[in-house]
Amino acid sequence: MNAIFDTQLSFGAFCADNYASDSIVADEHVAQLYGLHGDNVFCLPQGEQAKSLPTVQRLLQWFLQRKLGQGNRIVAVGGGSVGDTVGFACAVYKRGVLRLLHVPTTLIAMVDSAIGGKTALDLDGVKNAVGCYFFADTLVDTAFLCTLDDVQMRSGLGEVLKYRMLCADVDNLCRTHPFNSNEVIASCARYKLQVCTQDPFCQNVRNQLNFGHTVGHAMELSLGLTHGEAVANGICYETQLACALGLVSKQYAQQWTDVVRSQFEVRPLTQNAIELALQDKKNNGGNVGFALPPTFQTVQLSPQTVQKILL
Ligand SMILES: NC(=O)c1ccc[n+]([C@@H]2O[C@H](COP(=O)([O-])OP(=O)(O)OC[C@H]3O[C@@H](n4cnc5c(N)ncnc54)[C@H](O)[C@@H]3O)[C@@H](O)[C@H]2O)c1
Ligand SMILES: [Zn+2]
Repeated sequence: MNAIFDTQLSFGAFCADNYASDSIVADEHVAQLYGLHGDNVFCLPQGEQAKSLPTVQRLLQWFLQRKLGQGNRIVAVGGGSVGDTVGFACAVYKRGVLRLLHVPTTLIAMVDSAIGGKTALDLDGVKNAVGCYFFADTLVDTAFLCTLDDVQMRSGLGEVLKYRMLCADVDNLCRTHPFNSNEVIASCARYKLQVCTQDPFCQNVRNQLNFGHTVGHAMELSLGLTHGEAVANGICYETQLACALGLVSKQYAQQWTDVVRSQFEVRPLTQNAIELALQDKKNNGGNVGFALPPTFQTVQLSPQTVQKILL
């Protein structure tokens, strides 16, 4: 049973031969790129398409065919879509008896989605409509990044930027190392684990990880940006929001806005995006939650305040 938050985060080379007695789940594309095949390998559709109930049903049927139970381990090799899908299947299969090891293959998964136990599926076009927590171990092998395309890599860099603002250790490393270096990735991953260990079910400190995401999700939906690019945009606007509210100095806001602009194109914020942000799931009694600097605790703001500042 893996319901207790006592998970291991390790760094090193992934070699499928070492997992011959486990069941490996990967997406079709990753399986092909890395030669994952055989009786103990199940392939999911590529990317977001994996995150559906019919796919989970097929995966659960495969678990049953393999007679999996207590003591068996699943190894999920892929990006966040694979991790979210396999995590959900493991949580519901025989009430969570299986152990799960995430082997993230995208930058986003290495620094974010493969850590912290959140699982999710999409339903009727609603992203992450279904999900639960299932805590798992994680093995980060940054060698997977050599096949990742620029779009996916840049998307991951948006999340790295978030950790830079949340964690001084990450920021210091980013001043001397490439943002996708092993050192920076390990530092982000450790920070995420530390925050999730303190607050596994997202009741207080874990909410800081939503920084940049209230505006970011809205820009992702309205402009079709990648997740990380949208988060980078969200970081820029949410920092400006904090500045307008007097929470951070103009100098702080300018400094971080410059950092975002040096790496990402910051798009204009449209009325449509603001309206989407105001419908964000963190909506509480008509107000909207933002994890704002400098403390990154959630601040509830009225839609009128947000519109007045950001438009
Ligand atoms: N559970 C969480 O905490 C959490 C956090 C953030 C994001 N997510 C979820 O993660 C999903 C996005 O995940 P993602 O950005 O990692 O992308 P992804 O898993 O959707 O993969 C994107 C594409 O990259 C390919 N790919 C993966 N690894 C590769 C590699 N090493 N080389 C070449 N191609 C590779 C995949 O085949 C796919 O085509 C979203 O559904 C999001 O909701 C979950
Ligand atoms: Zn994110």
